[in-house]
Amino acid sequence: MNEVLRIEGLKMYFGGLKAIDGLDISLYREETLGVIGPNGAGKTTLFNVICGVLKPTEGKIFLNGEEVQGKSSFEMARKGVARTFQISKPLRDISILDNVVASLGINEYTGFKSLFKKSHSKETVDKAMMILRRTGLEDFKDKKAGEVSLGYLRRLEIARALAINPLLIMLDEPCAGLSNFAINEVIELIMQLKEEGKTIVLIEHNLPISMKVCDRIVVLNYGQKIAEGTPKEIQSNQEVIEAYLGEDDDFA
Ligand SMILES: Nc1ncnc2c1ncn2[C@@H]1O[C@H](COP(=O)(O)OP(=O)(O)O)[C@@H](O)[C@H]1O
Ligand SMILES: [Mg+2]
Repeated sequence: MNEVLRIEGLKMYFGGLKAIDGLDISLYREETLGVIGPNGAGKTTLFNVICGVLKPTEGKIFLNGEEVQGKSSFEMARKGVARTFQISKPLRDISILDNVVASLGINEYTGFKSLFKKSHSKETVDKAMMILRRTGLEDFKDKKAGEVSLGYLRRLEIARALAINPLLIMLDEPCAGLSNFAINEVIELIMQLKEEGKTIVLIEHNLPISMKVCDRIVVLNYGQKIAEGTPKEIQSNQEVIEAYLGEDDDFA
């Protein structure tokens, strides 16, 4: 099996708070790995460490066999690590199309210089349009990102992730706060990415969604892995059920 990402003995401490406390995780090509766990379990912190926003306190991260822990988020994006945010962070004052063009720029220009170019090559715009079609955003291309609803922003984030031609896509609660209709649209998009053979890590607090979408699930609690397995194995794991007890989400 082709290991895209390997995490070994990862720790991320904030002072005395052990947000990640000795994690080992592997992710294989074309796999969709779910990361679940109660609020505060360390899921977002894990993403921040993998994508270079945070430097880990200890441990190693290998991307396609190369040691990458501690590299900047820009370097990690260039290496093909794409992530979306629990709280959407598009460039709000520019159009949906330009948001995707700017992300394409990570491969084609340095930094965000692409944003300040007056015109882009037809090839770049065509590429951006193709991504907007894939993510169902074509009709909204001229709207400013700050003007569209959260469901579209989440899809825009996925579009921007696709624009860097990612080795792996990390989605942080892409369905949080959405209507059932918008949730189904995001799930459909993720299923489509899976069919295209993308390698995905999905943080999802809503268990039925991760059960449906993921091939394998890792369960975190207090920064540690308390279980790992197929959705079916996870669903019947007593420790997992206990970690979730007292939360008001359904465990279906
Ligand atoms: N930058 C930070 N500084 C201090 N504490 C943090 C920081 N980021 C996260 N934490 C803490 O780390 C723990 C894990 O948070 P987080 O990774 O956001 O959990 P989750 O995404 O699973 O809900 C929480 O206790 C949170 O308060
Ligand atoms: Mg989180």
